[in-house]
Formats: sequence, structure tokens, C-alpha cells
Amino acid sequence: CWTVDMNKDLSRSYPQITQAANLLKQNEVVAFPTETVYGLGANALSDEAVGKIYQAKGRPSDNPLIVHISSLEQLKELSKDIPLYAQKLMNVFWPGPITFVFFKKGRLSNKVTAGLETVAVRMPDHPLALELIKQSNLPLAAPSANLSGKPSPTAADHVFEDLQGKIAGIVDGGRTGVGVESTVLDCTGEVPIILRPGGITKEQIEEVVGAVEADQALINEAFTPKSPGMKYAHYSPEAPLTIIEGDTIFFQKLIDEARLNGKRVGVLTTEEQKHFYKADLIIACGSRSQLDTVAQQLYDALRKFNEQQLDCIYSESFPSEGMGQAVMNRLLKAAGHRVISQG
Ligand code: TXA
Ligand code: MG
Repeated sequence: CWTVDMNKDLSRSYPQITQAANLLKQNEVVAFPTETVYGLGANALSDEAVGKIYQAKGRPSDNPLIVHISSLEQLKELSKDIPLYAQKLMNVFWPGPITFVFFKKGRLSNKVTAGLETVAVRMPDHPLALELIKQSNLPLAAPSANLSGKPSPTAADHVFEDLQGKIAGIVDGGRTGVGVESTVLDCTGEVPIILRPGGITKEQIEEVVGAVEADQALINEAFTPKSPGMKYAHYSPEAPLTIIEGDTIFFQKLIDEARLNGKRVGVLTTEEQKHFYKADLIIACGSRSQLDTVAQQLYDALRKFNEQQLDCIYSESFPSEGMGQAVMNRLLKAAGHRVISQG
């Protein structure tokens, strides 16, 4: 693990966390690993610091940020009216890949919450992230550390690719574990509502609290998402991506048709099915029998397609259960909801 100061000597290493914590105290932005994806952190109490996050990412100012904490004392300073079901969920899943939306209070920068009355809070399950929060002695506002619209970073290299020269540093903790972002759960009503599927599945939440709803916008595109960030295009590789629902023979026929038209075709598949295809670039992204491995590798795969000149990318489809919910949510976004079904 090391911290790089991107504006100075890239080959120099630092006593990483202390250095990064000092930069954060000076209202600079620093990327750091979490168990889901890399975050781009800044002092959540400072307008100046939080403004730098939006600027570096090119993020629309109406899209609020998640506040990262390392203790429940910090939670009490930022939020109020925490329902019993949320306390139960926190006991079971924190630190971990689930973010809770509560009514806000206290000294948070208004830029963190994009003017909303609510705040999204998460305690990440990563030793470097927790240590950074502790040493900086600050709640850290942190979106995923990618340029707005690009796949979220699951390695320090991805952050470097997107934000080189725009931020004060990166804490490199190697590859992240979960691979997709945290589940965002609205806890301002009587029943929790999933605003974004993620690292903790609907089934896991149900086991603890029974009833849980999902934002209608997750199922029907005609609804406006309750989570501002969910309305934006996201994760797209450079070549247009289409999801194919059908068997491998149907899939290959589509590839052949496109190639006959002179197109260079990329394929997003899995270990089990990669041998069935002939195309210009084939990327196996985890195993169908374990959808958490697909989640782990998804963003890296989407980025890898950009390394070659392709005209279109076809992706396999996955069952929408367990981690498959987060995977399909991200894939559909990356595809701009283009799906071809065998019927
Ligand atoms: O795993 C993660 O959640 C990563 C790591 C770095 O912690 N972070 C992340 O942040 O994915 P970001 O900014 O890329 O996504 C945050 C999502 C957005 O969809 C945003 O609109 C939503 O959370 N959000 C933030 N505050 C909210 C609020 N008060 N009400 C509803 N949605 C909110
Ligand atoms: Mg993001």
C-alpha cells in the first residue's frame, strides 16, 4: 500500500495513511479503497473540500454524496430519527456494503446532501478506509472515485486513469473485494426501501427485518428514482453495449451478423460460456454459478473493452436474484437499457 501525490513525483511513496489524513484535514481530496469500490474522499464538514469532489469527477451538483464514518458516535452527530429496523441492520451489516439514508442534522456541508433533508451514511468494511477516517478525525464524503459516467474503480489504476492530476492522492489497497457499490437503503419511512441494489442483497435484508421494498424506478423506467444519482447514465464503455437474453447459439448468430457488416464485436461472458463464442474480444467476467464473482470483475471488464477499438459489445444476461440484482442493475445502465431477447 502506498500513497501517491499525483501533482508531484509519481514514483515517490509515502507513509500512506498519515499523509492522506493530513491532506484531508487540509481540505484536499484523496482516493481510498473500500470493500466495494474506491472512494474519492473529502472533509464532509467543509464546502470547499466537498466542492473539489464535484469538480474532480465532473459530477452534477444535484447528486448527493455518501458520508463515510468509522464509529456510531459519528452517526449520532450527522443524523436523527433512526428507526429500530435500521439499528438492527446496522448491527448485522456494519461495517459493510450497505448505506442508510436518514434525516440529517449537525454541521454537514450542504453540498454533501445536495440540499436534501436527508443524508446517506456508511461504515465501510476496509481497514485502510476505517484508519483513514479515524486519523483524519472527520466524517468523509466519498462518491466512487471515477469520472462521472464511467465504471466505478475497483483498483487504484482505474482511479489514476480517470483522475490523474485532478486530486491530491490515492491510497492503494489493491483490488476491492465486492466490486459493485453498496446497497442504498432509504430509512426515513416505516419500511426500508432499496434505492440502489448493491453489496448486501434484498434477501439478506429481509432475513433481518422482514419487510423491505424496492424503489419502483428500479423495476419500471417510467418512474423517477428516489435516489438522485440513479437517474444518470453510468458505467458505459465507449462502444455501445447490448444485453442479449437467449442461448449461446442465438448470441453467436448476432455476433456473426454484426461482423458480416464489418463491425468489431466484443463479448462479455463468463468462465462457463466463454468457449462458445467467436468474436474480436471476449472477456470472461467471473462464474455464472457464483454471481458475486461476476460483481467483483464487472467494472474492470467494462473498462477493458475500451482498450480495443470495438464497434459494439454484447453481454450475457444474469438472473436478477442475490448479487445478480446489483449486477443486472449496473449492466442495464451500462447498456442504456438496450436488450435483445430471443423471445
Ligand atoms: O459502495 C459505495 O457506496 C461507494 C463507496 C466509495 O462507498 N460509494 C458510492 O458513492 O457508490 P456514489 O456517490 O457513487 O453513489 C452514491 C449514491 C448515488 O446514487 C446518490 O444519489 C445516492 O447514493 N445518495 C446519496 N445521498 C442520498 C440521499 N440523501 N438520498 C437518496 N440517495 C442518496
Ligand atoms: Mg458512483
